[in-house]
Amino acid sequence: MTTLAIVSALLDEQKGLLDQLQQPTQHVRAGRTFWCGQWAGHEVVLVLSKVGKVAAASTTATLIEAFGAERVLFTGVAGGIGDGVKVGDVVVADAFIQHDLDPSPFFPRYEIPLYDRATMACDETLSALLFEAVKSGLPKAGDHFHRDILLEAPGVHRGLIASGDQFVCDPADVNTIRTDLQAAGHQALAVEMEGAAVAQVCFDYGIPFAAMRTISDRADADAHMDFSAFVQQVASPYALAIVSQFMRILPK
Ligand code: ADE
Repeated sequence: MTTLAIVSALLDEQKGLLDQLQQPTQHVRAGRTFWCGQWAGHEVVLVLSKVGKVAAASTTATLIEAFGAERVLFTGVAGGIGDGVKVGDVVVADAFIQHDLDPSPFFPRYEIPLYDRATMACDETLSALLFEAVKSGLPKAGDHFHRDILLEAPGVHRGLIASGDQFVCDPADVNTIRTDLQAAGHQALAVEMEGAAVAQVCFDYGIPFAAMRTISDRADADAHMDFSAFVQQVASPYALAIVSQFMRILPK
């Protein structure tokens, strides 16, 4: 059976997923706790990525090398920087780019040296399934949770996500990130701190990868406000509803 790794960025978000695991066994490796078990008839391994690109890359390599992960799904939160990407929306990634990577003048800005590319594409089939799971799974959590915290029902987007080792919380930084990316022909919907690293390691190993992020903030001065309340009351139930639906429709 194909082993699916589910990588979460946040402990609260992971807790709900862990409850779904049947016959969980706990393994400590490389400073991380990996949870192996079954979910909806799939072999799964759950882990926290920790924060930032290096931590996420290390987690992903360990998942593949030590736990036999053959597909990788990432769930977490992100700051919305695309037009119309609002708090409470969900973004399914088509591809990732590192907004803080600049190897110029030796390589073009954003290009990953010796990979001949700036963006790392997600797996089309897995991402289409995830998008389907968001569209069918999200309202179950959305109906219930968005009224207290969010003004509108959640929107669903697909596109490029930009990763960097920086929590973006300043409109000037957002403007720079957006304009610089646009100048190189890239239009990002959201910023976060891990996805591009996970995508690159999965690319190295030829492992299908898909990712979703719930928009927790607009990467402005309010970005850190009520972050944990948002994660507990919105992002965690969203992740649980979406991943549960994803597990139901994922082929064995
Ligand atoms: N994750 C959630 N919000 C973020 C932000 N504004 N910047 C980077 N990572 C984030």
